[in-house]
Amino acid sequence: MLDRATFDRKPGLEGVVKGRGENQPAEQGVGDKFQAETKYTPEKIGGRYLDWNTMPDRYKDYDESFHKVPLPDPKIDRAADIWNAISKRRSVRQYTFHNSMPLKELALLLWATQGITAESRQFQFRAAPSAGGLYPIETYLMARNVEGLEPGIYHFRPHRFDLECLKAGDWSVDLANAALGQRIVADAQTCFIWTAVVERSKWKYRQRAYRYIYLDAGHIAQNLYLAGTAAGMGVCGIGAFFDDRVNDLLGVDGVEETAVYLASVGLIAG
Ligand SMILES: Cc1cc2nc3c(=O)[nH]c(=O)nc-3n(C[C@H](O)[C@H](O)[C@H](O)COP(=O)(O)O)c2cc1C
Repeated sequence: MLDRATFDRKPGLEGVVKGRGENQPAEQGVGDKFQAETKYTPEKIGGRYLDWNTMPDRYKDYDESFHKVPLPDPKIDRAADIWNAISKRRSVRQYTFHNSMPLKELALLLWATQGITAESRQFQFRAAPSAGGLYPIETYLMARNVEGLEPGIYHFRPHRFDLECLKAGDWSVDLANAALGQRIVADAQTCFIWTAVVERSKWKYRQRAYRYIYLDAGHIAQNLYLAGTAAGMGVCGIGAFFDDRVNDLLGVDGVEETAVYLASVGLIAG
């Protein structure tokens, strides 16, 4: 485990994680089996009865004992050029450590990733698409240096547009250690942590749900990348992490709800 002092001396891990050597034979494992067994084929696609009585709730709420922080109105008060954002988007790994991110900017990013953007017959649609409109992804934040927000681990509620404080304190180094020691996580002003509430999607798609969960997370993360770029902030998607360390930090069980993806967000240095 690395502490803050070590992080401050350590170069980034980027590029250190080694890939499979070119001459090694391709391994057949659980991933290949999963891909094969979750294929839709005309023979397998037969209709299935959906039990609407057991449909899982699309929203998660912690009880009243968890402090709620309302988020500022994410009003879009600036022009953003989508073509420019696409062409400028990069994974940014250098952040200014000491400056704080305005809460208004964080609110805008949360809205861009999972904000409710339309309502029709009591159904709420969000900024990113989701297979079957089931929205299995939950958003948590590790906030290290956000103006007006105590450092801590938070849960975002799209339907209330607020944050629930799960635990106070600076968890940046703990999360960085859980992310294989990647210093971008320790240096970022905040880090998005996305989990999946698996049953929300499994209720309809069974084992194929896992494909959709990962696709959903990708859509959300791309919105974060583009919105972050448009707002002048640096984003880096992070897939390398010790799953259960992240799950433990959030207090989720890693089975019914499990971490799937992270993204560091920081103010850009220089
Ligand atoms: C699913 C996924 C996982 C990633 N995981 C990491 C990571 O753990 N650490 C990191 O530094 N970058 C990570 N990245 C960023 C990629 O390294 C980056 O997207 C790639 O090098 C291309 O560069 P660009 O995003 O600037 O175009 C990840 C990107 C994706 C899409």
